[in-house]
Amino acid sequence: MPACITLPFKFRKNDPDVPKITRTKAASRTDRQTKNLTASRIFARLSHKVLHNYYMTMNGKLQNGFAMHSGAFVLKTHSPADVAHTLIDSGRQKEPFYVFDMDEAHRRIQHFKSQMPRVQIFYAMKANDSEYMLKLAITSGLGFDCASPGEIYNLRQLNVNAKSIIYAMPSKTAEQMIYARDSGVLHTTFDSSYELKKIKQYWPDARLLVRIRVEGKSVYNLGDKFGCGHDTEAIKLLDEAAALSLKVVGVAFHVGSGCSSIDSHENGLRYAKALFEHEARAGRQMKIVDIGGGFLSDKTDRIDQVANIINKALEEYFPDKSVQVIAEPGRYICDSSYTLYCSINNVRQVIKDKEVVNMIYLNDGLYGTLRYNESWHKVKRYRVSTDEESLEKAILWGPSCDSTDRIMENFTILLPQCTPSDWLVLPIQGAYSFGFATNFSCLPTPRTRIVISTELWYKLKESKVFKASDFVVNPDINEPLPTTIPKVITENITTDVKSPFLLA
Ligand SMILES: Cc1ncc(COP(=O)(O)O)c(C=O)c1O
Repeated sequence: MPACITLPFKFRKNDPDVPKITRTKAASRTDRQTKNLTASRIFARLSHKVLHNYYMTMNGKLQNGFAMHSGAFVLKTHSPADVAHTLIDSGRQKEPFYVFDMDEAHRRIQHFKSQMPRVQIFYAMKANDSEYMLKLAITSGLGFDCASPGEIYNLRQLNVNAKSIIYAMPSKTAEQMIYARDSGVLHTTFDSSYELKKIKQYWPDARLLVRIRVEGKSVYNLGDKFGCGHDTEAIKLLDEAAALSLKVVGVAFHVGSGCSSIDSHENGLRYAKALFEHEARAGRQMKIVDIGGGFLSDKTDRIDQVANIINKALEEYFPDKSVQVIAEPGRYICDSSYTLYCSINNVRQVIKDKEVVNMIYLNDGLYGTLRYNESWHKVKRYRVSTDEESLEKAILWGPSCDSTDRIMENFTILLPQCTPSDWLVLPIQGAYSFGFATNFSCLPTPRTRIVISTELWYKLKESKVFKASDFVVNPDINEPLPTTIPKVITENITTDVKSPFLLA
């Protein structure tokens, strides 16, 4: 199968198709803490080659960048939108595609740094872990928030120092802790007594941050799942950690993803301050505050407003500059740099509640990269509307045969009339899009054309992180992206499996 063809399935952990595990020398070592764990479950003991292949396929990386790109197109005069327009107008590109504008992600990183100079960015790679995004984050001097051994592995593959990684997941299995520990990661979070006991057993040297709950108005309220009460539970847990001789070095919180309440970070910092004081009274010293992510990715100046509040709160509660302040933005860094150009498969008109509704069948959907629909997600027709054209109600369906595969269901979508030769444009789609894409019904996820300005390319090309072959200088911007349609199998089938059911 050529590298550019979509894999027909993904490997799962207990899948018989997962390559056989070969144990490394380290795996045969007797280790008191790990001897109860079955070898096949210890990620750290898997041979590098097998693990590499396993993750590359399991995480869909073969589609999403690692082996699938022809290199970022270095643009001299064209804009990222020009590249998309050229492709669509040429008529040679049939399948949906993303344009990833590396300059936009770079601008976001720089803007965050300039707005909050005291805050160090630990990029939450779960939001977008494509190779170029990670390499851009590395060259921009960011640390990383990881939430799984697979993420740690991918960063270590890119030579990221394990000390620049926080395993910011308050609930981990023993195997996951061991993997992080053996990879050299030092920092992690906790929010429960059981987690402390596990850490004591499997990762006793870890440096811990207690994850507290901070309520706010956000699209995804992480406080429902993680974070202990700051005034009651947290105190008990800190004392328990001390009794277990574990080292708690800080406080972490996350105000929820897509947070729109302006004072949530300030509340979190105030709670954190109280816990720093509790520890100081007990003769223990904390030194890290982790303000998490949650920064909105829309193209407004909301980040500037939030930054103002955070900067003031830091001055008030943590004037001592020896306290390290970190943040874990995901969405804010990567969302706005990806635009989806989606081709249309079919259009049907139906009458719903006495109104004409255009049902538009797209070539990407809920089970692909369009799982999320938030207030900042917009859709427009690529072809510019004429003055005579009016907007009509539309329903956007994804390409699978599942009737729940409907995009932006919670919104009223108004579009000019479309035909199957039209394209739709969906900006701000870089966060949590590829990561949540499934392989349902063997439908592929769109390919990505990566673009970079000459100016940024000059800055990045000398870094050890990017290779010369990562970039295409003087690219042919008419070149369509590789198809996702699999190869037809006609040859080399010596014995067809006999079935009694042959279609007439
Ligand atoms: C611990 C942690 N940090 C950071 C993030 C990134 O959040 P966002 O993408 O909203 O910035 C998440 C998202 O779930 C998270 O759970």
